[in-house]
Parts: sequence; C-alpha cells; structure tokens
Amino acid sequence: MVGETGAAGASVERAASGTPCGAPPYDPQCQCNPMNTAYVTTLCNGEGYLPGVEALGKSLEFHGSQVPRVVLVTEDVPGTARTRLTQQGWQVREVEPLENPNPDAGQLFERFRNVYTKLRAWELVDLDKVVLLDADLITLQNIDDLFERPSIAAAPDFFLPDRFNSGLMVIAPSTETFERMLSALWETESYDGGDQGFLNVFYSDWYAMDVTHRLPAGYNLQNFIFQFLHGHPSLREALLREAKVIHYSVQKPWLAKPALTGGSAAWWNAYFGAHPEKANEWKRRWHAMEDWTFDHAVAAILK
Ligand code: GLC
Ligand code: MN
Repeated sequence: MVGETGAAGASVERAASGTPCGAPPYDPQCQCNPMNTAYVTTLCNGEGYLPGVEALGKSLEFHGSQVPRVVLVTEDVPGTARTRLTQQGWQVREVEPLENPNPDAGQLFERFRNVYTKLRAWELVDLDKVVLLDADLITLQNIDDLFERPSIAAAPDFFLPDRFNSGLMVIAPSTETFERMLSALWETESYDGGDQGFLNVFYSDWYAMDVTHRLPAGYNLQNFIFQFLHGHPSLREALLREAKVIHYSVQKPWLAKPALTGGSAAWWNAYFGAHPEKANEWKRRWHAMEDWTFDHAVAAILK
C-alpha cells in the first residue's frame, strides 16, 4: 500500500480488505481499516513545502496513527521529493493543478495561487473519509478520532471564527460534490483569494450545522497564538493541553527568520524525526531559545 504512485482515484489497498472488525477502526490493535480512510495533504508548489510534509507525517506517526497517508503532488514536484516521501511512508499520487480563479491582486498571499488544487481531495472517491491537512501543520496528539466526524467538519478560523479554517477539514470524497465545486468556482467570490474563502461560501451553513461539524479550536491552533502567552504559566499550560494541531499559517518554521515565529521547537522536533541526521542537541536548544525569545520579546513590547 505504501509507496504506490498513481493518478487521483487509483485504489488504495486496505490493510485487510473486507475483514469484519468489531473494534474501533483506528485502534492500532485492529488490523483492518473497515472504513477506508487516509490523511491527505498536498505538495503543489514544486518542493517548497517538502519539509512541511515530512514534519507532518512524522508528527502523525509519533502519536501512534496507523491511518494511511496520501500526498497529492503536481507535475512540478521532482522525483527526488516523491522518492523521499515514499520512503517516509507517504503514498504519492499525482494530480492536475486546479487554477485559482481569483486575480493575483485578490490573493492574500502570493502562495495562494495554487491552493485550489486542494479541492482535488474530493475526487479521491476510493476513500470514504479523508482528513485533509495543510502541509504547514503538525500534530501534538493523536487525532484519529476525527474520522468519526461527519463531513464537512473543521475548526474555526482565527479572525472570523464564524468561518472555518480550511487547513484541516474532515471530508467525504464525492464526484458529485467535486463537480458542483468546479461549476461554482468561477462565479464564487473568495474573501481571501484562496480555497478557504471559496469553501466558506460553498459550505456557507457550516456555522449553523450540528455541533459535530464544528471542531474544537485546538484541532487547528495558529502558532502565532503563542505570542500572546507572555510566558504566563497557567495560560500556556491550558493551551498546550488543548492543542492537538499547530498550524504555521504565516511564518513557516523552515523558512522563518530566527525568533520570528512561535511554536518553533515543536515543529523542529517533528522535522528531526524525518531527518535524524540533521538533529543535534545544540539545534534543539537553539529552537527552544527561539520560542523563549519570541515569547519574551513580544511580552516586553506589549507590557
Ligand atoms: C488559510 C488556510 C489555508 C488556505 C488558505 C487559502 O491560510 O489556513 O488552508 O489554503 O487560507 O485560502
Ligand atoms: Mn496552512
């Protein structure tokens, strides 16, 4: 199963196809995958986000997930990156890019040009349920329970919490839904010029849906929230208890200037899992120091 390369829609082999299984589907003791599921991410800007995919994969693994992982790549992703991800347990599938219908000026960041390709995950109809993740997030706890959520389920966004953040979504692939999306794409205004603005119009009733569709904020916590902790012990402790996923939406740790992003050490820890040859004690201390500096510098400015 691991390492298969093919077009979106190619079938994913089940761990033990058709085996009846009374245990919860994601119990590591259970050898089967009765509901066909996968974590899915995308790599569609060349290999710029490759470190992100590697860290994400390791973080899922660290927390005991055995659910298959699929990365959707576009043609511009080099063979070396595909091979590396395959070796790390990702199933690589090539997809056609989906054009962003918004003018460049309407896109919040230049990197949003390729984000509509994420919608290809709805085409993965060999899977019953998918947890679709951005490549710029890591997990801090096991999140396999998400596969029990209905589609669509997502956590609130940070500046408009009555809209969802599209960096982590539970979806049920469906050709019918995908086709409705395609026909709505060009006439739907997206408030951020990306998939998130589009999807919040497409699923405009998300906030009013049954509560099971609304994930606790800890499933998609922005890393910059760390800047508001100011070294405060109980606040930090509460946040870390709630946080299951950290999302590095603005500053990507592998690109960020030192001390300019929060939650840096946690990301590097996951990344070093994929690259033990790059890890050493000094680097770990350095990244812990980055977080400390970030926290205290912001606290000093705000006090
Ligand atoms: C936000 C979301 C991300 C999405 C982007 C473009 O950054 O977190 O998932 O791709 O907006 O809409
Ligand atoms: Mn993101």
